Amino acid sequence: MCGIVGYVGKRDAAPVLVEGLHRLEYRGYDSAGLAVLHRGRLQVTKTAGRVQDLRDKLKSNTKATLGIGHTRWATHGEPNEINAHPHTDTAGRIAVVHNGIIENAEHLRAQLQGNGVRLVSDTDTEPLAHMIAAELAAAEASTGDADGADTVGVSLEEAVMRTLRHVEGAYGLVVLDTKHPDQLVVARNGSPIVLGLGEDEMFVASDVAALVRYTRQVIYLEDGEVATIRATDYRTTMLNGGQANKQVRTPTTVDADADDYDLGTYQDYMRKEIHEQPDALRRALLGRLDDRFATARLGGINLDARDLRNIRQIKFLGCGSAYYAGQMGAMIIEELARIPADAEPASEFRYRSPVVDPDTLYVAVSQSGETSDTLMAVQELKRKGGQVIGAVNVVGSAIGRECGRGIFLHAGPEVAVASTKALTNMAVSFALLGLLLGRVRDLSAASGHRIISGLRNLPEQVNKILHNEEEIATIAHRFAQAEHMFYIGRVRGWPVAREGAQKLKEISYVHAEAYQAGELKHGPLALIHRDMPSVVIIPSDDLVAKNVSTIEQIKARGGPVIALASAEIPEGLADAVIKVPRAEPELEPILLNVPLQILAYHTAAKLGRDIDKPRNLAKSVTVE
Ligand code: AGP
Repeated sequence: MCGIVGYVGKRDAAPVLVEGLHRLEYRGYDSAGLAVLHRGRLQVTKTAGRVQDLRDKLKSNTKATLGIGHTRWATHGEPNEINAHPHTDTAGRIAVVHNGIIENAEHLRAQLQGNGVRLVSDTDTEPLAHMIAAELAAAEASTGDADGADTVGVSLEEAVMRTLRHVEGAYGLVVLDTKHPDQLVVARNGSPIVLGLGEDEMFVASDVAALVRYTRQVIYLEDGEVATIRATDYRTTMLNGGQANKQVRTPTTVDADADDYDLGTYQDYMRKEIHEQPDALRRALLGRLDDRFATARLGGINLDARDLRNIRQIKFLGCGSAYYAGQMGAMIIEELARIPADAEPASEFRYRSPVVDPDTLYVAVSQSGETSDTLMAVQELKRKGGQVIGAVNVVGSAIGRECGRGIFLHAGPEVAVASTKALTNMAVSFALLGLLLGRVRDLSAASGHRIISGLRNLPEQVNKILHNEEEIATIAHRFAQAEHMFYIGRVRGWPVAREGAQKLKEISYVHAEAYQAGELKHGPLALIHRDMPSVVIIPSDDLVAKNVSTIEQIKARGGPVIALASAEIPEGLADAVIKVPRAEPELEPILLNVPLQILAYHTAAKLGRDIDKPRNLAKSVTVE
C-alpha cells in the first residue's frame, strides 16, 4: 500500500526521502516519486518502477532541504509515471503526496475542470493540489499578498484545511508550498501519518519504518488532525477545531531501531521473520508468567480479578491472519477458561448490526494496528457500549490508541506482507489471556503450572521446527507444481489449517482451501484426485484415530497427503510427514502453525514468487 515520506531540516533532502521510500518498499507499490524545493522551484522526479530507479534518475546536486516522497499502489488510474505522486497544481507551486482514497474525487475533478483547470493525471490526489493552490491564491488576492507569506488567516495550513473541508474519504497527506519554503503541512483522516522529531529537523512518514534510521521520537497524528512542521517545531490542530486548539504533543519513543528493518544475512523478510519466532515468543512471555499463582500477568488490559470473573464471553475481531489467530485464541480460551469464545472477521462486523453484549470482552487483533476494517469494528463496538481491548504489534497505532488498553504483541517490526511472527505472538498472547481467565475460574493451580511450563518450552520447540527447515523445503519442492491444495483439520487443527492455506495462497498463488475434516465427505471429497494434495493436521489429541481415517479416505481416492503431525501416525500412511514436537495439548496450534509458514515459503520460493511483496497485497490495509 502507498507510502509517504517528508523532510524539513538542514540535510540534503533527496537522499533522506529516497532512503525513507526504500524502507517503505515492503508495503508494496507500483510507482514512486518525490519533489524537493530547489532554488525556490519544485523539482519533481517520478518513476513507474522501483525506488532504485528513482535514485538513479535523481539529479545529484539539488542540496534541497525540504521535500516529500511517495510510493504509490494504484487505486485511481493505472500505475504509470503521470499518475505517480507527488501531484502539483498547474503553476507548479504546490506538491501533494497522499495515501488513502478520496471518495468524492470525481465530483472534485469535474468541478475543477468546469473552472477551466487542466488535470494531467487520472488520480484522486491531483485535485487537492489545484484546490490548495486556488485557496492560497484567493486568500492572497484578497489581502494583496502576492508573495504568499503568511498573513492573518492565509497560512498554508489554513488553505489545506479549507480544501479538506470539501473532501470526503480517507487520507494521509503531506503538502509542500514553494512559497512556504520552511514548512510542510500534513493531515490525517483514516490513513496513518507519523511525525519524527529530530535535532533541528523534522520528518514525516506513513510508517515508522521510514523514520527509525533518523529518530525514534515520534508523534502519531489522530484522525482529523492537521499539523504544520518546521525544522525546529511543529503544531497540531483539529480540522474541525480551529486554530485555538493548536498544541504540541508529547512524543512517543519507538520500540525498534534501524537494525530491526535490515535483512542481515537473509534474502527476504519472511524467512527472517520466521526465524525470529523463538526470540519473539520469549519477548511475548517476558514478565508475564506468574509462577507463584500459576497465572499470567497482563497489566495492559486493565481488568482486575472481579472484572475478569464477570466476563461471560470472549470475541476476537481481526482480518485475514489476525482473524485466524483469533480463532486459535478462542479455542485455547474455551479450553482453559471454559467460557464461550469465538472469532469473527472484523470486515463483516459493523455491517451486520451486531448485538453488543456488555459482558462480552471483545479483542481487536491487528499486527499493524492500522487495518481500517478492524479499526471501524472497534469504533462500532465503542459506540454500542462494548468493552474492547486491543492485541496489536505496533505501539501508538490507531487501533491501540482507540482501544486504550490491551496486550502488546512484542513481535518486533514485521515487514513481510505475510504475517508470521506476529501471528505466533498473537496466539501465545491469547494463551496468556486464557490462563489468566482460567485461573480466576475453574482452572486448577496444577493445570496453570502445566500451561506455564508449556509456554516456556515453546521458543525451544519452535527452534527445533526451524532446524527441520530443509526437510520441509524438500516436501514443498515436491508438491510445488500443484495448482490446488486442501488443508484439512479438525478442532485444534482447524484454525491451523485455515491459516496454513492462507499463507500458501497469499505468497505462492497456489489455490489452497481449508476444510474441516468432517466436512470432506459432504462435498469436497469429489475434488480429491492425484493432482490435489492435502495437508492434514494431526495434533496429539483424542482425535488422532479420526484424522488417520481422514487420511485413509483421501488416499483411497488417489489424493496425495502431507501429514503435519505432533501425534504418532502409522508408518507409510502419508506421502510425506512433517513431524512437530509435542506441546501441552492446548498450545499445539501455536507450534503446528510454524511448519506451514515454512512450507508456504519454500513453495513460493520454488515458484519464483516475490515473497515479501505478493501481488495485489499490502502489509497494512488502511482502506476499505
Ligand atoms: C497475513 O499474512 C495477511 N497478509 C493479512 O491477512 C493480515 O493478517 C491482515 O491484513 C490483517 O492485518 P493486521 O494484522 O495488520 O490487522
